[in-house]
Amino acid sequence: MTLHTLRELLERAESGGYAVGAFNVSSLDQAIAVLDAAEAERSPVIVQSIAGMSAYDDEARWWARLRRLIDDYPTVPVALHLDHGRSYDDCARAIEAGFSSVMIDASRDPATDEPSTFEANVALTSRVVALAHPRGVSVEGELGTIGGAEAGVSGTTEEIVFADPDQAEQFVAATGVDALAVAVGTSHGSVKFTDAEGGQRLRIPLIAQIKERLPQTFLVLHGSSSVPSEAVATINAHGGRVRPSYGISPEQKGDAISTGIRKINQGTDSHLAWTAALRELLSTRPDLVEPGEQLGVALIAFRDMVARRMREFGSAGAA
Ligand code: 13P
Repeated sequence: MTLHTLRELLERAESGGYAVGAFNVSSLDQAIAVLDAAEAERSPVIVQSIAGMSAYDDEARWWARLRRLIDDYPTVPVALHLDHGRSYDDCARAIEAGFSSVMIDASRDPATDEPSTFEANVALTSRVVALAHPRGVSVEGELGTIGGAEAGVSGTTEEIVFADPDQAEQFVAATGVDALAVAVGTSHGSVKFTDAEGGQRLRIPLIAQIKERLPQTFLVLHGSSSVPSEAVATINAHGGRVRPSYGISPEQKGDAISTGIRKINQGTDSHLAWTAALRELLSTRPDLVEPGEQLGVALIAFRDMVARRMREFGSAGAA
């Protein structure tokens, strides 16, 4: 069977010493690009969707189609994961739609967007675990707050609140989550860090401390895009205006994997690859109106970026 829980995929990653990429998709075409990359690289993969962030109006139909698409890829292990569920209801809808894994991000209060108290985070996360586990669905929680912006998750890199190893241990004991997103220096979105001092960005010793306390919990790195400068330059050379910034280098991600990170979230790098390819095509072929040709070029760039990350994360060949 193609669909697996997050726990199943990450257990194998733990014994193989690699990380599984979790790639954000907001349309069926993007999901096809991710799954094609997994098939070509013979890699396990996590396809993830954020509630309220897709090309379609009808969430139930979008998620049902996404779930069915995975059955077309019988040779690769796939987890279908809700990224950044902000409420119990988000997670309940995803479980109803057949997702094999959900993230409840109770690290911020959705009403105020301020960091939640530890107790509030534990309470909501535990309710989601109580819903998900009896249905065979894995749960990822979040401790500390990761900076940057994505759907429903606002903030800046200055707002990173680092995960605390003592609290991480208490959080997992109290909630029973399978995986834990830890704030260890990353930030979401296309504009990350404006300083060039990339070496110190990830708190590798902090990952090591948390892993030591939680050997049975799968640690997750969010906001892991590298923000390739060539993609930003191509976008800006063809009419775009993306603020140049620095992400997490592939080498730093390699260090994080060696220290125990088993799931690496990436959305921005594939989005940059798509946008760069599409902008270049449209500006060099101003007469082009055929959508299939436009989409094809963008999807190949998206797929190739995902495949590159699978090789860097060590998951290629592990299917
Ligand atoms: P990036 O914006 O760095 O790709 O991170 C995505 C992410 O962490 C989604 O949860």
